[in-house]
Amino acid sequence: MTHPQPNQPQSSPFVRACRGEPVPYTPIWFMRQAGRSLPEYKRVREGIAMLDSCTRPELVTEITLQPLRRYDVDAAILYSDIVVPLRAVGVDVDIKPGIGPVVERPIRAMSDVARLRPLEPADVPFIGEAVKSLVGELGDKPLIGFAGGPFTLASYLVEGGPSKNHDRTKALMYGEPELWHALMSRLTDIAIGFLQAQIEAGASAVQLFDSWVGVVSPEDYRQSILPHTRRIFSSLAAFGVPRIHFGVGTGELLGLLGEAGADVVGVDWRIPLDEAARRAGGGKTVQGNLDPSVLLAGWDVVEARARAILDHAKGLPGHVFNLGHGVLPETDPDVLARLTDLVHEVTAR
Ligand code: CP3
Repeated sequence: MTHPQPNQPQSSPFVRACRGEPVPYTPIWFMRQAGRSLPEYKRVREGIAMLDSCTRPELVTEITLQPLRRYDVDAAILYSDIVVPLRAVGVDVDIKPGIGPVVERPIRAMSDVARLRPLEPADVPFIGEAVKSLVGELGDKPLIGFAGGPFTLASYLVEGGPSKNHDRTKALMYGEPELWHALMSRLTDIAIGFLQAQIEAGASAVQLFDSWVGVVSPEDYRQSILPHTRRIFSSLAAFGVPRIHFGVGTGELLGLLGEAGADVVGVDWRIPLDEAARRAGGGKTVQGNLDPSVLLAGWDVVEARARAILDHAKGLPGHVFNLGHGVLPETDPDVLARLTDLVHEVTAR
């Protein structure tokens, strides 16, 4: 057992807050802090397809670091995508600009599931390279690795692209449990492989983005999804890095998201943070929960809403400030810079 030294990511405010330890100020980062809200991102991505950019470690390193040059955020998040490991095991998925992930041949039958082989480290050599290069550049600042949650990945695979209501996915879940669990089990293996590759290369924390899982009921989550997310978190336990579990619209699922084994539960704006912490239970840290649309409403609104969240967070076991979902492309980066400083100043102790 090695003891974390000062000035290492393991003793950073972000990792300490994830563990519910005392912090000098509330740490903050933004989901989708890299990406289309930054002109420098659009510049380096010119003429390079999204998924190709994810396989080029020097580009991944540059794009991951771009937001850190503008904002005093407490963590970096690897520039990649939830569909990168699917493509790496041979799924014909692409990201269409302005649309999202599109799958050529959707998964609808057991023979389709058989195509989803486990992810080997050799499938994603660029991930290890990028993470190592970033860890060197970041020093004591933690790097967050991530993967897509099994429901969210299943949705893209079953629907064949982005979906509003995830009806086909849920129909498969309700009507063909055997096929569903086979699919979830494969996606779970892929998520574990992808997260392990990032942790072994030096990521200091991981987040499971099961973004669209808020469309199922607690009972269906327990039966059809929980066994799989539980396996993801338990298989990572031995690494000792904080594990964050996030989905949108999951107010009724927060207890189950915690039960799955995460150290931190991500929360969107539909529920007050103190109530979210109560539901997540077990003294877990919560992460969130400013509505990304608030950032478009002018600084006075941003400040008032951010202060209200910090009030709700007073006395909680742990809080990592974040948005309730990703940064919108039309967000002014200066507002994010100012918000970062505000959260640090208001919570300095
Ligand atoms: O800064 C970061 O947060 C790290 C990078 C990151 C990306 N995707 C880069 C990206 C992360 C963490 C993701 C995760 C992801 N991808 C999720 C979970 C998070 C969430 O938003 O709920 C989901 C559902 C996806 C699938 C996906 N990929 C979508 C819906 C889109 C947007 C499509 C569009 O054009 O509107 C993508 C593409 C994508 N992933 C972009 C980026 C920077 C934009 C692509 C571009 O620049 O052309």
